[in-house]
Amino acid sequence: EHIPVIAIDGPSGSGKGTISQILATKLGYHLLDSGALYRLTALSVIEQGIDPDNTEAVAKAALNLDVVFEPQLDGEQKVLLNAQDVGVKLRLDETSAMASKVAAIPAVREALLTRQRKFREKPGLVADGRDMGTVVFTDADYKVFLTASPEIRAERRHKQLIEKGVDANISHLLKSIIDRDERDRTRTVAPLVPAEGAFVIDSSHLSIDEVVQQILDFIGFSE
Ligand code: C5P
Repeated sequence: EHIPVIAIDGPSGSGKGTISQILATKLGYHLLDSGALYRLTALSVIEQGIDPDNTEAVAKAALNLDVVFEPQLDGEQKVLLNAQDVGVKLRLDETSAMASKVAAIPAVREALLTRQRKFREKPGLVADGRDMGTVVFTDADYKVFLTASPEIRAERRHKQLIEKGVDANISHLLKSIIDRDERDRTRTVAPLVPAEGAFVIDSSHLSIDEVVQQILDFIGFSE
């Protein structure tokens, strides 16, 4: 039986995470935050003191992740790694940088493939990431590519971190966003590019609600 997938790809800070959560809640679909899997791998690497250049060891850490996602009533997800709540640690700059590093390792992406596809359950899935439409769910029913200017994305990330009580510097964030984009776009495996036929939305000057509405119109959903 066909289980529908809505793939939402784009760079960090494009609003993907929030928008995917809202869509999943509205549609009553499951949610895959694939970035969290790369962040969790990064966190394991950091905490276990694994050499990030040892691709075999990093891939093994990705394969053996002991992770539980617990959907909360507000649409957020609690993330438990080895039974510990790692919500804050996952968003640290150090973790972000390590995530994009481990994400460039083909064996890591391969290791996370099956785990990601298991999220496809009835009645449907909203999949948030970089390669949801191009690699993981090539047969997705709808593919969206969400972007925004680096400056706007840095501002959004800054606000998000401050709200979570994490100290952050905006020019540092901008630099790390530009570096990370560059790495994500130019890597040889699953580079960040819009899938063929994707609906491209630049959210720089759109509110969250406006983006959500554009996507709901695109998939033909009316409340
Ligand atoms: O989306 P988020 O910022 O949480 O992703 C963290 C990192 O994981 C990204 O910078 C990217 O390198 C990697 N990633 C990826 N493929 C995905 C999701 C995330 O390579 N589908």
